[in-house]
Amino acid sequence: MSTNERSPLLAIIGGSGLNHLSILEDTRRQFVRTPYGEPSCPLTLGTICGHEMVFLARHGHGHTIMPADINYRANIYALREVGVTGIIAVGSVGSIHPSMGPGDLVIPDQIIDYSWGRISTFFGCEQGVEMHTDFTHPFSEMLRSRLSGVADLLGFHVHDGGVYACTQGPRLETAAEIRRMAGDGADVVGMTAMPEAVLARELNIPYAMLNVVVNHAAGIGESTQGIQFSALGDVIEQAMCKARLLIEALVGCKVPT
Ligand code: HPA
Repeated sequence: MSTNERSPLLAIIGGSGLNHLSILEDTRRQFVRTPYGEPSCPLTLGTICGHEMVFLARHGHGHTIMPADINYRANIYALREVGVTGIIAVGSVGSIHPSMGPGDLVIPDQIIDYSWGRISTFFGCEQGVEMHTDFTHPFSEMLRSRLSGVADLLGFHVHDGGVYACTQGPRLETAAEIRRMAGDGADVVGMTAMPEAVLARELNIPYAMLNVVVNHAAGIGESTQGIQFSALGDVIEQAMCKARLLIEALVGCKVPT
């Protein structure tokens, strides 16, 4: 069955600072087994404003899974198994572009993948299977414009577009690495968009990201001398509050998935 024939079911993948979605009601947990192993945690199914939703904590409920150790294939496959037809992935990032700073929301439209060694396809060596997935535009324009439309309605300033640089982590970058990424055209840096985005594409699930800037990237602005990630708790909490409101409005707005 193609994505279009299923009834709409939106999933939120929560990253650092969004390990659960308190606005979800009537929640129930669902353990999903996949041929790729276990997802980061059981899926949480529930409703927002009467609309069915699914939530998955990317790093596990206790935030114990490092970016490179996340079982991205199991996560995306599990979401497909419960009938998800669109994914909004929330992730914290550092800002590289001078117009972006802590507390800002970004809806990226491109990715540069600097991560390595992560399993980034569902395809094996099956004969006759088209394994070269088109990824020219890695994010769903339909979901991106829904996100930016709802942000406008709420009066939230968002950066509509931007290049997401995906690094391996868990360490943060050096100042020279960030300069190189800026030269490559990157606007924000995070650790989890890949291979999540391409796996969703392989399974034909529209996928968009909502990024929350929590720090200037290494060597930039107040991060010239370094980044105290543990001191960012308040910024993360406030920015994630905005992300929660946006998601609630997105689902409540009844815009078709
Ligand atoms: N670099 C990589 N990932 C991040 C950062 C950063 O500066 N901030 C939040 N996630």
